[in-house]
Amino acid sequence: MANLNILLLGSGGRECALAWKMSQSARLGKLFIAPGNGGTGAYGENVALSPLDFDAVKAFVIENHIDMVVVGNEDPLVAGIYDYFKADSKVADVMVIGPSKAGAQLEGSKDFAKGFMQRHGIPTAGYLSVTKDNIEEGYRFLESLKAPYVLKADGLAAGKGVLILPSLDEAKKELGEMLNGMFGASSSTVVIEEFLSGIECSVFVLTDGTNYQVLPVAKDYKRIGEGDTGLNTGGMGAISPVSFADDEFMQKVNDRIIVPTIKGLQEENITYRGFIFLGLINVEGNPMVIEYNVRMGDPETEVVMLRIENDLVELLEATANQCLDTKAVKIDPRYAVTVMMVSGGYPGSYEKGKAISGLDKVEGSIVFHAGTKATDGGHVTSGGRVLAVSSYGNSKDEALHQSWENIAKIDFEGKYFRRDIGFDLK
Ligand code: AMP
Ligand code: GLY
Repeated sequence: MANLNILLLGSGGRECALAWKMSQSARLGKLFIAPGNGGTGAYGENVALSPLDFDAVKAFVIENHIDMVVVGNEDPLVAGIYDYFKADSKVADVMVIGPSKAGAQLEGSKDFAKGFMQRHGIPTAGYLSVTKDNIEEGYRFLESLKAPYVLKADGLAAGKGVLILPSLDEAKKELGEMLNGMFGASSSTVVIEEFLSGIECSVFVLTDGTNYQVLPVAKDYKRIGEGDTGLNTGGMGAISPVSFADDEFMQKVNDRIIVPTIKGLQEENITYRGFIFLGLINVEGNPMVIEYNVRMGDPETEVVMLRIENDLVELLEATANQCLDTKAVKIDPRYAVTVMMVSGGYPGSYEKGKAISGLDKVEGSIVFHAGTKATDGGHVTSGGRVLAVSSYGNSKDEALHQSWENIAKIDFEGKYFRRDIGFDLK
Protein backbone atom coordinates (compact mmCIF):
# COMPACT_ATOMS: atom_id res chain seq x y z
CA MET A 1 0.00 0.00 0.00
CA ALA A 2 1.29 3.42 -0.90
CA ASN A 3 2.01 5.71 1.97
CA LEU A 4 -0.42 8.47 2.81
CA ASN A 5 0.00 12.10 1.91
CA ILE A 6 -1.48 14.16 4.69
CA LEU A 7 -2.64 17.76 4.99
CA LEU A 8 -2.87 18.97 8.59
CA LEU A 9 -4.92 22.14 9.16
CA GLY A 10 -3.96 24.57 11.91
CA SER A 11 -1.10 26.64 13.26
CA GLY A 12 -0.73 26.11 17.00
CA GLY A 13 1.27 24.06 19.46
CA ARG A 14 -1.33 21.32 19.02
CA GLU A 15 -0.63 21.08 15.30
CA CYS A 16 3.13 21.13 15.93
CA ALA A 17 2.72 18.15 18.28
CA LEU A 18 0.46 16.32 15.79
CA ALA A 19 2.98 16.98 13.00
CA TRP A 20 5.85 15.72 15.21
CA LYS A 21 3.96 12.53 15.96
CA MET A 22 2.80 11.91 12.39
CA SER A 23 6.30 12.53 11.04
CA GLN A 24 7.43 9.40 12.94
CA SER A 25 4.92 7.21 11.13
CA ALA A 26 5.94 4.43 8.77
CA ARG A 27 2.65 5.08 6.90
CA LEU A 28 3.37 8.73 6.14
CA GLY A 29 4.10 9.85 2.62
CA LYS A 30 4.30 13.64 2.46
CA LEU A 31 3.09 15.88 5.28
CA PHE A 32 1.82 19.41 4.66
CA ILE A 33 0.68 21.81 7.35
CA ALA A 34 -1.62 24.72 6.51
CA PRO A 35 -0.73 27.32 7.54
CA GLY A 36 1.60 25.83 10.18
CA ASN A 37 4.06 27.87 12.23
CA GLY A 38 7.78 28.37 12.79
CA GLY A 39 8.14 24.87 14.20
CA THR A 40 5.94 22.70 12.00
CA GLY A 41 8.26 23.14 9.03
CA ALA A 42 10.67 20.74 10.75
CA TYR A 43 8.18 17.89 10.28
CA GLY A 44 6.61 18.68 6.93
CA GLU A 45 6.03 21.48 4.48
CA ASN A 46 4.13 24.59 5.54
CA VAL A 47 1.55 25.80 3.04
CA ALA A 48 0.12 29.32 3.03
CA LEU A 49 -3.56 28.34 3.02
CA SER A 50 -6.42 29.34 5.28
CA PRO A 51 -8.15 26.26 6.75
CA LEU A 52 -11.45 28.12 6.32
CA ASP A 53 -10.99 28.62 2.58
CA PHE A 54 -12.45 25.24 1.64
CA ASP A 55 -12.15 25.82 -2.12
CA ALA A 56 -8.43 26.50 -1.77
CA VAL A 57 -7.99 23.51 0.56
CA LYS A 58 -9.77 21.29 -1.96
CA ALA A 59 -7.64 22.56 -4.86
CA PHE A 60 -4.48 21.85 -2.86
CA VAL A 61 -5.70 18.37 -1.96
CA ILE A 62 -6.34 17.52 -5.59
CA GLU A 63 -3.12 18.99 -6.89
CA ASN A 64 -0.94 17.32 -4.26
CA HIS A 65 -2.65 13.92 -4.18
CA ILE A 66 -3.55 14.25 -0.53
CA ASP A 67 -5.08 11.09 0.96
CA MET A 68 -6.01 12.43 4.38
CA VAL A 69 -6.96 15.82 5.84
CA VAL A 70 -6.47 16.10 9.60
CA VAL A 71 -8.39 19.05 11.02
CA GLY A 72 -6.61 20.48 14.06
CA ASN A 73 -8.95 23.24 15.17
CA GLU A 74 -12.70 23.53 15.50
CA ASP A 75 -13.53 26.37 13.13
CA PRO A 76 -13.36 24.44 9.85
CA LEU A 77 -15.25 21.54 11.43
CA VAL A 78 -18.05 23.75 12.70
CA ALA A 79 -18.13 25.41 9.27
CA GLY A 80 -18.65 21.96 7.71
CA ILE A 81 -15.36 20.94 6.07
CA TYR A 82 -16.20 17.24 6.47
CA ASP A 83 -19.48 17.56 4.57
CA TYR A 84 -17.87 19.85 1.99
CA PHE A 85 -15.39 17.10 1.07
CA LYS A 86 -17.90 14.26 1.14
CA ALA A 87 -20.30 16.17 -1.13
CA ASP A 88 -17.79 16.56 -3.96
CA SER A 89 -17.04 13.43 -5.98
CA LYS A 90 -13.54 14.71 -6.81
CA VAL A 91 -12.51 14.54 -3.14
CA ALA A 92 -15.21 12.40 -1.51
CA ASP A 93 -12.80 9.53 -0.95
CA VAL A 94 -10.21 11.70 0.79
CA MET A 95 -10.12 10.74 4.47
CA VAL A 96 -11.16 13.65 6.68
CA ILE A 97 -10.36 13.32 10.37
CA GLY A 98 -13.05 15.19 12.23
CA PRO A 99 -16.82 15.07 12.65
CA SER A 100 -19.47 16.05 10.14
CA LYS A 101 -21.00 19.50 10.54
CA ALA A 102 -23.81 17.97 12.60
CA GLY A 103 -21.29 16.30 14.91
CA ALA A 104 -19.27 19.50 15.25
CA GLN A 105 -22.33 21.08 16.85
CA LEU A 106 -21.22 19.35 20.04
CA GLU A 107 -18.68 22.17 20.24
CA GLY A 108 -20.29 24.72 17.93
CA SER A 109 -23.48 25.02 19.95
CA LYS A 110 -23.55 24.69 23.74
CA ASP A 111 -27.35 24.50 23.51
CA PHE A 112 -27.08 21.53 21.14
CA ALA A 113 -24.47 19.86 23.39
CA LYS A 114 -26.65 20.26 26.50
CA GLY A 115 -29.70 18.93 24.67
CA PHE A 116 -27.66 15.98 23.39
CA MET A 117 -26.47 15.13 26.91
CA GLN A 118 -30.00 15.42 28.24
CA ARG A 119 -31.37 13.16 25.49
CA HIS A 120 -28.77 10.50 26.23
CA GLY A 121 -28.63 10.68 30.00
CA ILE A 122 -25.05 11.95 30.13
CA PRO A 123 -24.18 13.61 33.47
CA THR A 124 -23.80 17.38 33.16
CA ALA A 125 -24.84 20.53 35.03
CA GLY A 126 -28.53 21.51 35.02
CA TYR A 127 -29.21 24.29 32.51
CA LEU A 128 -31.61 26.54 30.67
CA SER A 129 -31.09 28.00 27.19
CA VAL A 130 -32.21 31.60 26.89
CA THR A 131 -32.80 34.02 24.02
CA LYS A 132 -34.29 37.52 24.08
CA ASP A 133 -37.70 35.87 23.84
CA ASN A 134 -37.51 34.09 27.19
CA ILE A 135 -35.17 36.34 29.16
CA GLU A 136 -37.69 36.59 32.02
CA GLU A 137 -37.58 32.81 32.32
CA GLY A 138 -33.79 33.15 32.36
CA TYR A 139 -33.97 35.56 35.31
CA ARG A 140 -36.25 33.14 37.20
CA PHE A 141 -33.85 30.27 36.50
CA LEU A 142 -30.92 32.33 37.80
CA GLU A 143 -32.93 33.08 40.94
CA SER A 144 -33.42 29.35 41.48
CA LEU A 145 -29.64 28.72 41.44
CA LYS A 146 -26.97 29.33 44.05
CA ALA A 147 -23.94 31.57 43.43
CA PRO A 148 -21.70 31.61 41.49
CA TYR A 149 -23.61 31.79 38.21
CA VAL A 150 -22.39 30.32 34.93
CA LEU A 151 -23.35 31.96 31.62
CA LYS A 152 -22.17 30.52 28.31
CA ALA A 153 -22.44 31.96 24.83
CA ASP A 154 -24.05 29.26 22.70
CA GLY A 155 -21.65 29.57 19.75
CA LEU A 156 -17.89 29.64 19.27
CA ALA A 157 -16.27 32.57 21.06
CA ALA A 158 -12.55 31.71 20.87
CA GLY A 159 -12.61 30.30 24.41
CA LYS A 160 -13.93 33.56 25.87
CA GLY A 161 -17.64 32.88 25.89
CA VAL A 162 -18.02 31.62 29.48
CA LEU A 163 -18.69 34.03 32.35
CA ILE A 164 -18.72 32.96 35.99
CA LEU A 165 -20.35 35.62 38.12
CA PRO A 166 -20.36 35.95 41.89
CA SER A 167 -23.73 37.70 42.38
CA LEU A 168 -27.26 37.37 41.07
CA ASP A 169 -27.37 41.06 40.07
CA GLU A 170 -24.25 40.74 37.97
CA ALA A 171 -25.50 37.52 36.41
CA LYS A 172 -28.76 39.18 35.34
CA LYS A 173 -26.94 42.21 33.97
CA GLU A 174 -24.42 40.11 32.01
CA LEU A 175 -27.18 37.85 30.69
CA GLY A 176 -28.79 40.94 29.16
CA GLU A 177 -25.50 42.11 27.69
CA MET A 178 -24.68 38.73 26.23
CA LEU A 179 -28.09 38.54 24.55
CA ASN A 180 -27.47 42.06 23.24
CA GLY A 181 -24.42 40.94 21.32
CA MET A 182 -21.49 40.87 23.75
CA PHE A 183 -20.08 37.97 21.72
CA GLY A 184 -21.87 38.88 18.49
CA ALA A 185 -24.18 36.22 17.11
CA SER A 186 -22.47 33.61 19.31
CA SER A 187 -24.35 34.91 22.34
CA SER A 188 -27.78 35.44 20.81
CA THR A 189 -28.53 32.25 22.72
CA VAL A 190 -27.05 31.88 26.21
CA VAL A 191 -26.86 28.70 28.24
CA ILE A 192 -27.30 29.30 31.97
CA GLU A 193 -25.75 26.49 33.97
CA GLU A 194 -25.70 25.26 37.51
CA PHE A 195 -22.19 25.75 38.95
CA LEU A 196 -20.27 22.54 39.57
CA SER A 197 -17.44 22.35 42.01
CA GLY A 198 -14.54 19.96 41.56
CA ILE A 199 -11.27 19.39 39.77
CA GLU A 200 -11.20 19.23 35.97
CA CYS A 201 -9.48 16.97 33.47
CA SER A 202 -9.51 16.39 29.72
CA VAL A 203 -10.34 12.98 28.30
CA PHE A 204 -9.65 12.35 24.61
CA VAL A 205 -11.44 9.73 22.58
CA LEU A 206 -10.73 8.77 19.01
CA THR A 207 -13.81 7.32 17.33
CA ASP A 208 -14.79 6.01 13.92
CA GLY A 209 -18.45 6.47 14.82
CA THR A 210 -18.86 2.93 16.15
CA ASN A 211 -15.61 1.86 17.74
CA TYR A 212 -13.45 4.04 19.92
CA GLN A 213 -10.11 4.22 21.68
CA VAL A 214 -9.40 6.28 24.78
CA LEU A 215 -6.18 8.31 24.65
CA PRO A 216 -4.10 9.42 27.65
CA VAL A 217 -5.93 11.71 30.11
CA ALA A 218 -4.47 15.18 30.65
CA LYS A 219 -5.06 18.29 32.72
CA ASP A 220 -4.46 21.79 31.45
CA TYR A 221 -3.82 25.02 33.34
CA LYS A 222 -5.70 27.96 31.87
CA ARG A 223 -4.96 30.90 34.16
CA ILE A 224 -1.97 33.17 33.59
CA GLY A 225 -0.86 33.21 37.23
CA GLU A 226 0.59 30.56 39.50
CA GLY A 227 -1.92 28.85 41.79
CA ASP A 228 -4.49 29.25 38.99
CA THR A 229 -4.98 32.97 39.43
CA GLY A 230 -5.54 35.87 37.06
CA LEU A 231 -6.91 35.98 33.56
CA ASN A 232 -7.76 33.00 31.39
CA THR A 233 -5.34 32.15 28.61
CA GLY A 234 -5.32 29.60 25.83
CA GLY A 235 -3.47 27.31 28.27
CA MET A 236 -0.22 27.69 30.18
CA GLY A 237 0.74 24.05 30.43
CA ALA A 238 -0.53 20.51 30.78
CA ILE A 239 0.29 17.24 32.44
CA SER A 240 -0.50 13.58 31.86
CA PRO A 241 -1.37 11.25 33.56
CA VAL A 242 -3.86 12.82 35.99
CA SER A 243 -3.66 11.16 39.40
CA PHE A 244 -7.35 11.29 40.28
CA ALA A 245 -8.38 9.84 36.91
CA ASP A 246 -7.70 6.31 38.19
CA ASP A 247 -9.19 3.06 36.89
CA GLU A 248 -12.38 3.45 38.90
CA PHE A 249 -12.96 7.03 37.70
CA MET A 250 -12.16 6.10 34.10
CA GLN A 251 -14.58 3.18 34.23
CA LYS A 252 -17.31 5.65 35.17
CA VAL A 253 -16.21 7.98 32.37
CA ASN A 254 -16.44 5.09 29.96
CA ASP A 255 -19.80 3.75 31.09
CA ARG A 256 -21.60 7.01 31.85
CA ILE A 257 -20.11 9.33 29.24
CA ILE A 258 -18.14 7.77 26.39
CA VAL A 259 -20.46 4.85 25.60
CA PRO A 260 -23.66 6.95 25.70
CA THR A 261 -21.97 9.68 23.63
CA ILE A 262 -21.04 7.29 20.82
CA LYS A 263 -24.41 5.55 21.01
CA GLY A 264 -26.13 8.93 20.98
CA LEU A 265 -24.27 9.98 17.84
CA GLN A 266 -25.34 6.75 16.15
CA GLU A 267 -28.96 7.08 17.25
CA GLU A 268 -29.06 10.62 15.88
CA ASN A 269 -27.38 9.49 12.63
CA ILE A 270 -24.45 11.83 13.12
CA THR A 271 -21.30 10.89 11.22
CA TYR A 272 -18.23 11.23 13.41
CA ARG A 273 -14.72 10.09 12.54
CA GLY A 274 -12.32 11.98 14.68
CA PHE A 275 -11.40 13.16 18.14
CA ILE A 276 -13.88 13.86 20.91
CA PHE A 277 -12.52 15.99 23.74
CA LEU A 278 -14.47 15.59 26.96
CA GLY A 279 -13.92 18.47 29.36
CA LEU A 280 -14.81 16.76 32.63
CA ILE A 281 -15.17 17.79 36.23
CA ASN A 282 -14.81 15.35 39.11
CA VAL A 283 -17.71 16.00 41.47
CA GLU A 284 -17.07 13.85 44.53
CA GLY A 285 -15.76 10.96 42.48
CA ASN A 286 -18.38 11.29 39.74
CA PRO A 287 -17.37 12.60 36.32
CA MET A 288 -19.65 15.23 34.77
CA VAL A 289 -19.29 16.90 31.39
CA ILE A 290 -18.40 20.60 31.40
CA GLU A 291 -18.04 20.74 27.64
CA TYR A 292 -17.46 18.76 24.48
CA ASN A 293 -14.86 19.79 21.95
CA VAL A 294 -14.60 18.14 18.58
CA ARG A 295 -10.81 18.23 18.26
CA MET A 296 -7.77 17.69 20.42
CA GLY A 297 -6.95 20.16 23.21
CA ASP A 298 -4.18 22.69 23.20
CA PRO A 299 -1.86 22.40 25.20
CA GLU A 300 -3.05 18.88 26.13
CA THR A 301 -1.97 17.48 22.74
CA GLU A 302 1.59 18.48 23.59
CA VAL A 303 1.58 15.86 26.37
CA VAL A 304 -0.92 13.34 24.98
CA MET A 305 1.16 12.79 21.81
CA LEU A 306 4.24 12.07 23.95
CA ARG A 307 2.46 9.23 25.70
CA ILE A 308 0.91 7.47 22.68
CA GLU A 309 3.24 4.70 21.58
CA ASN A 310 1.23 3.76 18.49
CA ASP A 311 1.80 4.97 14.98
CA LEU A 312 -0.66 7.91 14.89
CA VAL A 313 -1.22 7.76 11.14
CA GLU A 314 -2.26 4.11 11.46
CA LEU A 315 -4.75 5.06 14.17
CA LEU A 316 -6.17 7.86 12.04
CA GLU A 317 -6.39 5.60 8.99
CA ALA A 318 -8.32 3.04 11.04
CA THR A 319 -10.59 5.87 12.19
CA ALA A 320 -11.40 6.90 8.63
CA ASN A 321 -11.82 3.29 7.52
CA GLN A 322 -14.08 2.48 10.47
CA CYS A 323 -11.94 -0.33 11.84
CA LEU A 324 -10.62 1.24 15.02
CA ASP A 325 -11.58 -1.98 16.82
CA THR A 326 -8.56 -3.62 15.20
CA LYS A 327 -6.22 -1.28 17.10
CA ALA A 328 -5.22 -1.03 20.74
CA VAL A 329 -3.73 2.18 22.07
CA LYS A 330 -0.43 1.65 23.87
CA ILE A 331 0.41 4.27 26.45
CA ASP A 332 3.87 5.19 27.71
CA PRO A 333 3.78 4.84 31.52
CA ARG A 334 5.98 7.88 32.08
CA TYR A 335 4.76 11.34 33.00
CA ALA A 336 4.65 14.00 30.33
CA VAL A 337 4.41 17.72 31.02
CA THR A 338 4.40 20.75 28.83
CA VAL A 339 5.23 24.22 30.09
CA MET A 340 4.14 27.08 27.86
CA MET A 341 6.53 30.00 27.37
CA VAL A 342 4.42 33.08 26.65
CA SER A 343 4.99 36.69 25.59
CA GLY A 344 5.17 39.34 28.32
CA GLY A 345 1.74 40.96 28.76
CA TYR A 346 -0.23 37.97 27.44
CA PRO A 347 -3.23 37.40 27.62
CA GLY A 348 -3.47 41.20 27.47
CA SER A 349 -1.57 43.13 24.82
CA TYR A 350 1.95 42.01 24.02
CA GLU A 351 4.61 42.65 21.42
CA LYS A 352 5.49 40.27 18.62
CA GLY A 353 8.62 39.81 16.56
CA LYS A 354 11.02 39.20 19.46
CA ALA A 355 14.06 37.13 18.50
CA ILE A 356 14.14 33.70 20.14
CA SER A 357 17.54 32.35 21.18
CA GLY A 358 18.79 29.11 22.67
CA LEU A 359 16.54 26.63 20.83
CA ASP A 360 19.66 24.84 19.59
CA LYS A 361 20.82 24.26 23.17
CA VAL A 362 17.74 22.29 24.23
CA GLU A 363 18.47 18.74 25.37
CA GLY A 364 16.05 16.12 26.61
CA SER A 365 12.84 18.06 25.93
CA ILE A 366 10.74 18.44 22.83
CA VAL A 367 9.93 22.04 22.01
CA PHE A 368 6.64 22.43 20.15
CA HIS A 369 6.23 25.82 18.54
CA ALA A 370 2.96 27.69 18.99
CA GLY A 371 3.30 31.41 18.22
CA THR A 372 6.58 31.55 16.29
CA LYS A 373 7.66 32.49 12.81
CA ALA A 374 10.74 31.22 11.04
CA THR A 375 13.10 33.93 9.81
CA ASP A 376 16.38 33.67 7.95
CA GLY A 377 18.30 31.32 10.20
CA GLY A 378 16.14 31.76 13.29
CA HIS A 379 12.76 32.29 14.90
CA VAL A 380 10.79 35.22 16.25
CA THR A 381 7.70 35.34 18.44
CA SER A 382 4.41 35.81 16.60
CA GLY A 383 1.77 35.13 19.26
CA GLY A 384 0.94 35.10 22.96
CA ARG A 385 1.72 31.47 23.51
CA VAL A 386 5.15 31.00 21.96
CA LEU A 387 6.70 27.61 22.78
CA ALA A 388 5.45 24.49 24.55
CA VAL A 389 8.46 22.87 26.23
CA SER A 390 7.50 19.23 26.70
CA SER A 391 9.31 16.55 28.68
CA TYR A 392 9.05 13.02 29.97
CA GLY A 393 9.89 11.97 33.52
CA ASN A 394 9.46 9.04 35.85
CA SER A 395 7.66 11.46 38.13
CA LYS A 396 5.83 14.72 37.67
CA ASP A 397 8.73 16.60 39.26
CA GLU A 398 11.33 14.96 37.08
CA ALA A 399 9.41 15.93 33.94
CA LEU A 400 8.88 19.48 35.20
CA HIS A 401 12.54 19.96 36.08
CA GLN A 402 13.52 18.79 32.63
CA SER A 403 11.29 21.44 31.03
CA TRP A 404 12.51 24.17 33.39
CA GLU A 405 16.14 23.33 32.65
CA ASN A 406 15.54 23.86 28.97
CA ILE A 407 13.35 26.93 29.45
CA ALA A 408 16.34 28.50 31.21
CA LYS A 409 18.33 28.12 27.99
CA ILE A 410 15.67 29.67 25.74
CA ASP A 411 15.25 33.40 25.72
CA PHE A 412 13.13 36.11 24.18
CA GLU A 413 12.33 39.55 25.52
CA GLY A 414 9.48 39.37 28.04
CA LYS A 415 9.37 35.57 28.35
CA TYR A 416 7.09 34.25 31.08
CA PHE A 417 5.99 30.79 32.20
CA ARG A 418 4.27 29.15 35.15
CA ARG A 419 6.39 27.06 37.50
CA ASP A 420 3.48 25.23 39.06
CA ILE A 421 2.01 23.10 36.28
CA GLY A 422 0.51 20.03 37.96
CA PHE A 423 0.59 21.70 41.42
CA ASP A 424 -2.87 20.45 42.38
CA LEU A 425 -2.20 16.80 41.55
CA LYS A 426 -0.49 14.12 43.60
P1 AMP B 1 -16.03 25.88 28.78
O1 AMP B 1 -15.66 26.86 27.72
O2 AMP B 1 -17.41 25.35 28.70
O3 AMP B 1 -14.96 24.85 28.97
O4 AMP B 1 -15.91 26.68 30.16
C1 AMP B 1 -14.71 27.31 30.53
C2 AMP B 1 -14.39 27.00 31.95
O5 AMP B 1 -15.43 27.51 32.80
C3 AMP B 1 -14.31 25.51 32.27
O6 AMP B 1 -13.08 24.97 31.97
C4 AMP B 1 -14.63 25.52 33.75
O7 AMP B 1 -13.47 25.82 34.50
C5 AMP B 1 -15.60 26.64 33.89
N1 AMP B 1 -16.98 26.10 33.88
C6 AMP B 1 -17.76 25.92 32.81
N2 AMP B 1 -18.96 25.43 33.14
C7 AMP B 1 -18.95 25.28 34.48
C8 AMP B 1 -19.89 24.81 35.44
N3 AMP B 1 -21.11 24.41 35.08
N4 AMP B 1 -19.52 24.79 36.73
C9 AMP B 1 -18.30 25.22 37.09
N5 AMP B 1 -17.37 25.69 36.25
C10 AMP B 1 -17.68 25.71 34.95
N1 GLY C 1 -7.09 23.19 26.51
C1 GLY C 1 -8.43 23.51 26.25
C2 GLY C 1 -8.79 23.56 24.84
O1 GLY C 1 -8.06 23.17 23.96
O2 GLY C 1 -9.90 24.00 24.55
